[in-house]
Amino acid sequence: MYKFAVFGNPIKHSLSPNIHTQFAQQTGLEISYDKILVPIDDFSSSAQAFINQGANGFNITVPFKLVAFKFASELTLNAQIAGAVNTIKIEEDKIIGENTDGIGLINDLTHNLSIELKDKVILILGAGGATRGILLPLLEQQPNRVMIANRTPSKAIKLAKDFAKFGKTCGFSLDKIKHDPVDIIINATSASLDGKMPNIASGVANNAVCYDLMYGKQTPFINWATTNYGSMISDGSGMLVEQAAVAFEFWTGAKPNTKQVLSSLRR
Ligand code: ATR
Repeated sequence: MYKFAVFGNPIKHSLSPNIHTQFAQQTGLEISYDKILVPIDDFSSSAQAFINQGANGFNITVPFKLVAFKFASELTLNAQIAGAVNTIKIEEDKIIGENTDGIGLINDLTHNLSIELKDKVILILGAGGATRGILLPLLEQQPNRVMIANRTPSKAIKLAKDFAKFGKTCGFSLDKIKHDPVDIIINATSASLDGKMPNIASGVANNAVCYDLMYGKQTPFINWATTNYGSMISDGSGMLVEQAAVAFEFWTGAKPNTKQVLSSLRR
């Protein structure tokens, strides 16, 4: 019996227990998967208590991905470059930190939505932790370039510089976004949490794939993309299932069928 959980605050509406339970049924593995509401300043002691109870691993969601990064005793390359951890595996006395968010996004875009990323012009809105987590996997797909636009331009410029060794990147402020054709727009801001849409020129969405890392069919970004003629519009529910699948395989070695789970969540 594997012992797993997801740590977050808030955590009530997390779909992770449902997703991982379906993966376990598919693969014939026995698991328990709890939701753990962690007080904001108490991640380490909650995590350590769960480990002491015999945990095999856990997921980490908002706002603990940075403290989980510090809590891990070892980090995968993905986690090191993302600067954040969303999955921890316990192996004897090792606490291994991994980040499956970026691979989850790539798997959703390329496998579920059949979008080719090679040679594409990609625009990311936002330059926080979520953007840092997806940049390397995106650049590994060899797009034409990845442009990062942020309300605070200095953060976008710094991220672009940090990742320049992995591919063509640039950073600028939201109001510098041009009407030049963009193939894919990814909303990685936390604006949707406040019911807001970053303030950008509407023409940019025209004929572009528009992808929100948040899930929920009516996020302000999804509504904006719909009104402004985005060609294919998706929320992040596929990414949620795909990042969970990579975590499940990291823990157990078994590869789940994500399409089955995605259709059960009624994308
Ligand atoms: P996360 O880990 O989710 O990325 P974060 O590191 O706090 O969270 O980053 C949030 C991102 O959303 C930032 O890029 C932020 O812009 P600033 O760097 O200028 O703060 C962006 N963001 C949040 N609310 C926004 C809004 N209403 N309009 C535009 N950008 C917004």
